[in-house]
Amino acid sequence: MKRIIFATNNQHKLDEVKALSQGLIEIISLKELGFQGTIPETGQTLAENASQKARFIYEKYGQDCFADDTGLEVEALGGAPGVYSARYAGENATYEQNTEKLLKELQGIENRKACFKTVVSLILDGKEYFFEGKVEGIILPHRTGNGGFGYDPVFLPDGYQETFALMPLETKNKISHRGRAMVKLIRFLQEHIKS
Ligand code: IMP
Repeated sequence: MKRIIFATNNQHKLDEVKALSQGLIEIISLKELGFQGTIPETGQTLAENASQKARFIYEKYGQDCFADDTGLEVEALGGAPGVYSARYAGENATYEQNTEKLLKELQGIENRKACFKTVVSLILDGKEYFFEGKVEGIILPHRTGNGGFGYDPVFLPDGYQETFALMPLETKNKISHRGRAMVKLIRFLQEHIKS
């Protein structure tokens, strides 16, 4: 089975991606590699950040790896928080603080449309490839559910009655931004290995 490093310190992302790739590719975590530092993330776009994270780990370990970067884009806020989703309420803000700020900004606003976008950068044999995933939905006025992470408790995907924070991991993975990008990456790796 293809072994590949997932350049993330986020345990939630790791759990999602490991569940998706079970039996298809072997995901190596940074913990398993003994990496304990932080990965720089200073780009202006999701692609730049994903690339920066993947390249940082590739340069350190010289092994095939990938990283993702995700943003929540809210239509009524002109696409914010977007690439700044992790620090919407300020540097080192918690998920709760970011969500609180989002709910405040949207108070009294009728248009609740939003989408999550993920860009994955894969470095394979020294070459870089990108994969994208997107899911549309709305931002609820209140948190619902304790599962997931980040903005999950307020994001209701189109066509579903439950926020990401209420769904089983397998359901989120089937329709989510990251799930969709990862399915593309896994297919690509399988094709690459065959040829
Ligand atoms: P990152 O830079 O890709 O780690 O993501 C930026 C921020 O987006 C995170 O700090 C989370 O708040 C949020 N985020 C990323 N992925 C998800 C998700 O799957 N659900 C909810 N929020 C997410």
